[in-house]
Amino acid sequence: MKVFLTGGTGYIGSAVLDALLRAGHQVTALVRDTERAERLARRGVQPVLGELAKPASYMAHAETCDGTIHTALEHSRRGDATDREALEALLPAVRRRTIGRSGGNGGAPFFIYTSGVWVIGRATRPAAEDVELDPVPHVAWRPEHERMVLEAGADGAVRTIVVRPGIVYGRSRGIIADLVKEAGNGLVRVIGTGKQHWPCVYDRDLADLYVRLASHKDASGVYHANDEADERVEEIVDAIAEHVRTRPDVRRVPIEEARLKLGPYADALALDQRIRSPRARALGWVPSLRSVAGNVARLLEEFRTAREAA
Ligand SMILES: NC(=O)c1ccc[n+]([C@@H]2O[C@H](COP(=O)([O-])OP(=O)(O)OC[C@H]3O[C@@H](n4cnc5c(N)ncnc54)[C@H](OP(=O)(O)O)[C@@H]3O)[C@@H](O)[C@H]2O)c1
Repeated sequence: MKVFLTGGTGYIGSAVLDALLRAGHQVTALVRDTERAERLARRGVQPVLGELAKPASYMAHAETCDGTIHTALEHSRRGDATDREALEALLPAVRRRTIGRSGGNGGAPFFIYTSGVWVIGRATRPAAEDVELDPVPHVAWRPEHERMVLEAGADGAVRTIVVRPGIVYGRSRGIIADLVKEAGNGLVRVIGTGKQHWPCVYDRDLADLYVRLASHKDASGVYHANDEADERVEEIVDAIAEHVRTRPDVRRVPIEEARLKLGPYADALALDQRIRSPRARALGWVPSLRSVAGNVARLLEEFRTAREAA
């Protein structure tokens, strides 16, 4: 398959890129800096220098691929607006696919959108893909973007997919790696009580799901992606604390105080969520790692290796 990828230098996107290359697919990747573009080119990726907010810089490339995987998100006040601009450009571009209809797996072109479990809001009972959405303010804009994606696939001409990953773990990026970093520095801050459950997913398992979804000609609609371990934040932090050289202090930050520093992001971190991923499992997806706490020694090793390589 030939895949157009956004965010290939990011946490999720880089794992997806690795998985696509491992599976022998061709990748054209949107990159916004020349040095990173050169790094990807050395791995056989076709880099396209551009910016999400300037669709003219990349749109035509999506047309020449079997499908697009969108993992980029601009971390700025304009992040949601930029994401919408990208969707408005990419969804029609995917529909206009110019390569042979028999390209890739022979089905309709695909578009995979990266959303997240925070659109679900509080979920104290296990929530599958059919759950009603109640997003925290930090991602209040996201359900509308999910809707745009799903509607674009309503006539079957494009296979549109929304992935809602849990909190991603693995290597040295993301929220769990931040906890590891804090633990190494002697103080871990837990937002809220620590009793909240975080739905989590290992980066390589998540990437494996993206490749499955891209390759599976019947896959469409919403897919949750998490390891279903229902871990409490305090369990994750305890496991990390036990494995670092000197046991760190753990400070529970009341939500009101956390909001002053982090804004609405604090409420996302305080969410109590038990999420299920039955649709991904029905495709044969079985996460290789089943929890953060149960794999801490390995994850700390990965963290160190990734930090040294950076
Ligand atoms: N990480 C998680 O735990 C998690 C969980 C659930 C959902 N999600 C969602 O998954 C998506 C990706 O998250 P992530 O953790 O992989 O983020 P990330 O590591 O920050 O990566 C973001 C990617 O987007 C690219 N990008 C940002 N602004 C851009 C722009 N204006 N034009 C072109 N590219 C741009 C970045 O490029 P540069 O390398 O040039 O910065 C990078 O490749 C987000 O929508 C996030 O909300 C993440």
